[in-house]
Amino acid sequence: MRIALLNGPNLNLLGVREPAVYGTRTLAEIEASLAQVAGTLGCTLTCVQKNGEGELIDAIHALRGQCDGAIINAGAYSHTSLAIRDAFSSVSVPFVEVHLSNIYAREPERRHSMLAPGAKAVLVGFGAAGYELALRGLVGLIGGARA
Ligand code: DQA
Repeated sequence: MRIALLNGPNLNLLGVREPAVYGTRTLAEIEASLAQVAGTLGCTLTCVQKNGEGELIDAIHALRGQCDGAIINAGAYSHTSLAIRDAFSSVSVPFVEVHLSNIYAREPERRHSMLAPGAKAVLVGFGAAGYELALRGLVGLIGGARA
């Protein structure tokens, strides 16, 4: 099974950026440990981080026919970008939305997700562990759908 991990704006600064909110692990560390877990699940993992909305949309388009499912933390675009949700529908790639922090316990402008209506599942507030939970859940969902 081929899984893509997509991270959006400012997540390249994980480990440095507001560690009290987002934790101390870097994105490279998170990607490396997720790739290991993916291996134990018999999956390949492709990791992409983009700061621009259009770049993220291009990255999603590039998944067409190349991956079975995706995990995305679109950062602040999660709250605004119907275009990112549309990109996933356009290429028919099932996705799980992840947020390190519990966006529903934060400022009002973070309490709504434009992506969630298109997501297979949403994980918030588990910190970096949320990516692994999302991977395991996504593999189960896709595997179940195939069986
Ligand atoms: C975030 C939450 C967003 O509100 C914020 O803009 C981020 C990170 C999270 O992982 O908790 O960039 O997606």
